[in-house]
Amino acid sequence: MTREAAERKLAEYGQEHVLKYFDELDKEAQERLLSQIEETDLSVLKHIGDAEKGLKRGVFSPLKVMQRAEILSREKEFHDEGVKVIREGKTAALLLAGGMGTRLGSDNPKGMYDIGINKPVYIFQRIIENLLDVVHETDTWIHLFIMTSEANHDATVSFLKEKKFFGYKEDRVTFFKQSMAPACDHNGKLYMEDKGRLFTSPNGNGGWYSSMVRAGLDKVLSDEGIEWIDLFAVDNILQRILDPCFVGATVLGSASVGAKVVKKAAPDEKIGVMCLEDGRPSIVEYYDLSQEMMDEKDENGDPAYNFGVILNYLFHVSELDRVSEDRMPLHVVEKKIKYMADDGSIVKPDKPNGYKFEQLVLDMIHQLDSCLPYEVIREHEFAPIKNATGVDSVESARELALKDGIEL
Ligand code: UTP
Repeated sequence: MTREAAERKLAEYGQEHVLKYFDELDKEAQERLLSQIEETDLSVLKHIGDAEKGLKRGVFSPLKVMQRAEILSREKEFHDEGVKVIREGKTAALLLAGGMGTRLGSDNPKGMYDIGINKPVYIFQRIIENLLDVVHETDTWIHLFIMTSEANHDATVSFLKEKKFFGYKEDRVTFFKQSMAPACDHNGKLYMEDKGRLFTSPNGNGGWYSSMVRAGLDKVLSDEGIEWIDLFAVDNILQRILDPCFVGATVLGSASVGAKVVKKAAPDEKIGVMCLEDGRPSIVEYYDLSQEMMDEKDENGDPAYNFGVILNYLFHVSELDRVSEDRMPLHVVEKKIKYMADDGSIVKPDKPNGYKFEQLVLDMIHQLDSCLPYEVIREHEFAPIKNATGVDSVESARELALKDGIEL
């Protein structure tokens, strides 16, 4: 992109300040900045008003969950089907590891965090060991895709190589990078990271499939005959990945997607709740859950909105092409953003100072025709690490892991 074209693009969005230090940069840095301006989608800035308004939601109603009693009564049937599908090579695992983990506060990718007490136990290690359980049970090497972002790709790859993939077969692991999005202050002015770079951060986990396609990996899926992808977050150290029972229940239920859910710990727990929205599967965020919904009961007298998602979904690959990112809402999220001030100094704010833009995987569910919410036992499968201390922290996850018999 030429300087003139960049100036035009920036002027269209009132962002002329981005080139303030352009003349001070060397030729190479100038070119890098121009191509970053060319590649960055500035249309997201039109959405900053959404941060105050919130997103418009449809009419919610309860969605029936497959609960433990039903799962146990069909356990063998589900398990056998799952093992068959995995052995046929029709499943893959996909680790979402592109996030910044800002709440945890470590400079390294979250998966590199050592949660061990008496010995090192890394988050990536826990995840790979969980997947290896299925590899050994089915005697099948499952293709593991790992989504990283520009911000953490190199660190993630070199860490896993150094640790020899914690016993996973390196040639069954494929990395790909997700896209980045700009960030702005409360008035919609783009933040700069330094004189020659716009501040950008990963654009949310909702773009994982289009990022895969951009990396040409849809071809790998079809070449290998992969029909189901278990997509999961990096930070839940207990979750089972591609456990045969979950796979079998989703396949036999002919669902477009299976979603692992846990019984809520309290009606107002901060967890997205599985439901229907305008008659289609959906997830209502805890802040959109009204008191009326929290109080509503089902035919058995149990809370009607009683199960939360844990970010572990089994997607039917053939349905993924129908998901359109254009129809997925853009979440405008208030965050702390380290930036370069007008005078060139770097500012590290101690409270949220602007917005990042993200699409979320939970919004994909609403575009699919059917979803099987599948209950897993909370104490065995849900130990997320989001914060440094307190709720959903290293401490709470350690405690849960120890109770579950994991040596740390
Ligand atoms: P979170 O919503 O917890 O975000 O991600 P985060 O970036 O890791 O943490 P905070 O909010 O900055 O503290 C849930 C899952 O989605 C992945 C994360 O790596 C995690 O596995 N994710 C999130 C991505 O892969 N890309 C993103 O852009 C955001």
